[in-house]
Amino acid sequence: CGIVGYIGTQAATEILLSGLEKLEYRGYDSAGIATIWEGEVNCVRAKGKLHNLRSKLEAVEAPAQIGIGHTRWATHGKPEEYNAHPHMDTAMRVAVVQNGIIENYRELRQDLKQKGYVFRSQTDTEVIPHLIAEFLKNPPSPPLPLLHSSSPFFEAVRQAVNKLEGAFAIACVSADFPDELIAIRQQAPLVIGFGQGEFFCASDTPAIVSHTRAVLTLENGEMARLTPLGVEIYNFAGDRLKKQPRLLNLSPMMVEKQGFKHFMLKEIYEQPGVVRACLEAYFTNDPSSPINLSLPVELYVDLEQIQILACGTSWHAALIGKYLIEQLAGIPTQVHYASEFRYAPSPLTANTLTIGVTQSGETADTLAALAMEKERRSGRELKYQPRLLGITNRPESTLGEMVSQIIDIHGGLEIGVAATKTFIAQLMAFYALALDLAYRRQTISPDQLEEIITSLRQIPKEIEATLERQENLIEQLAHDFAETTDFIFVGRGINFPIALEGALKLKEISYIHAEGYPAGEMKHGPIALLDAKVPVVAIAMPGNVYEKVISNAQEAKARDSRLIGVTPVNDGEAAEIFNDLLPVSNVDELLSPILTVIPLQLLAYHIAARRGLDVDQPRNLAKSVTVE
Ligand code: G6P
Repeated sequence: CGIVGYIGTQAATEILLSGLEKLEYRGYDSAGIATIWEGEVNCVRAKGKLHNLRSKLEAVEAPAQIGIGHTRWATHGKPEEYNAHPHMDTAMRVAVVQNGIIENYRELRQDLKQKGYVFRSQTDTEVIPHLIAEFLKNPPSPPLPLLHSSSPFFEAVRQAVNKLEGAFAIACVSADFPDELIAIRQQAPLVIGFGQGEFFCASDTPAIVSHTRAVLTLENGEMARLTPLGVEIYNFAGDRLKKQPRLLNLSPMMVEKQGFKHFMLKEIYEQPGVVRACLEAYFTNDPSSPINLSLPVELYVDLEQIQILACGTSWHAALIGKYLIEQLAGIPTQVHYASEFRYAPSPLTANTLTIGVTQSGETADTLAALAMEKERRSGRELKYQPRLLGITNRPESTLGEMVSQIIDIHGGLEIGVAATKTFIAQLMAFYALALDLAYRRQTISPDQLEEIITSLRQIPKEIEATLERQENLIEQLAHDFAETTDFIFVGRGINFPIALEGALKLKEISYIHAEGYPAGEMKHGPIALLDAKVPVVAIAMPGNVYEKVISNAQEAKARDSRLIGVTPVNDGEAAEIFNDLLPVSNVDELLSPILTVIPLQLLAYHIAARRGLDVDQPRNLAKSVTVE
């Protein structure tokens, strides 16, 4: 979901709409905006994409200079117009947008219904405007002192917020207070933007970067009162806080497609640059200290176990991380889906490092799993104390606040919902971490380390070469597979997670059923699905499982499947077996996942593009899933 709010001197509607467009990448299935004009709330909402909302708004004269907007990804209640935000109170004087979950909404709703408030949606959010209306009508008696803010609207919102339980970001306006916009943050992201005589709030910076680069990230338990004169920040108790905006390191250019048809394609082509940025950040030219992660010794000392918590594509990166850490540094490592770990954590182990991997730094399940781990370890004897590390593209995110150490993956802004360049950047972080651990524990020699780092430095140009090689090949394949309904991806060892990632990319954006399997497991089930209609993509890179993958691929060929091989260039053996080749540069097996994922990203992209699908915002998916 996405929130945008504006107060200032320009026409609000266009600013809100274009802000919401910049948040489209977060995923949504309905949208709406509310502005205040001539003493009334003008609320317009529409199911589906923003152009539906835009065409409805064209019919409305909209000179308002204050308003809020929202894109909704359905949780409580279907993606219908009546559930779209903004929501209003019964008298239609207060409008509210919210991201997150109000956990105690049932009790509040019951209570408000008894007081005569009329509910028009199935959402949890709708309790908020009613609550605010209630506090405006009946301020608590004896009336609380108006603390530092003299605004009755702010006070009513503050009272209402104190009744809410859950994780939320909220923006609200009222027809009776046309010079105030209130923004609230409790465990869901919200930033405030400072312009000249105009102020903004938004779920993420791309929504406001074309207007201002001066932003302030609200922290949990904070609320902001925006007026045409400025911004005041308070805590939920009503104390005024002193805070300064910072300058964003993001240019409006970065949120444009720059000639590419889709953001996803642009981001795939940005991967060589991302790897260069990671190499620059993680490795030095100083042989006495070759790796530069700046992680404190308490994280490493006596380390016995590592557990990694993640979701989606980040979980796939974590699987490769496990391979690297175990094989290079010899530390037993477990990878958990964050949503599973929360409710069935592994027994506590001593001297354990817990790594949360989330490119957005906002995925609710990953954050909750980390919080749970922190909590259950705190206050115990030293060896059980929490050691937490985050791997993220957004060091300023909620994850950044939660853990003491971060590895920044330097991916730059990723807008396509399906992760591509942030996946490669996460892999780079794991290479650096595994090598750092191995170096400190002396499980690899300085010479081996130097050799691996030297090969890593070649990777950006090998990605470029790999991208070039695919161009015409994949478009032809995409044409052949435009009607295919099932795909199998297989790989082994370090490339097994790439098979999972290839299948996930295809599912996410092409809506084709795809499964990723360890190649050796194919004969234990998926082989029953194979026939001429089910293509098999095999990742076969030279190394200790190469021959095995080739023979697994032959088993598929014997069942009439069309065989596509992700193989090294000029591999004569592969050319004989596979029907089609997606050649990548011939690099050491250990580094190969950074290259083998590239043709699979492009395959998913071109099939989806050929099918005319919404590549950057696939149906039902969201970029940062801030709900559980
Ligand atoms: C969503 C996205 C995926 C992403 C996953 C985890 O489901 O659609 O692309 O991999 O969240 O996101 P994170 O920000 O935690 O890496």
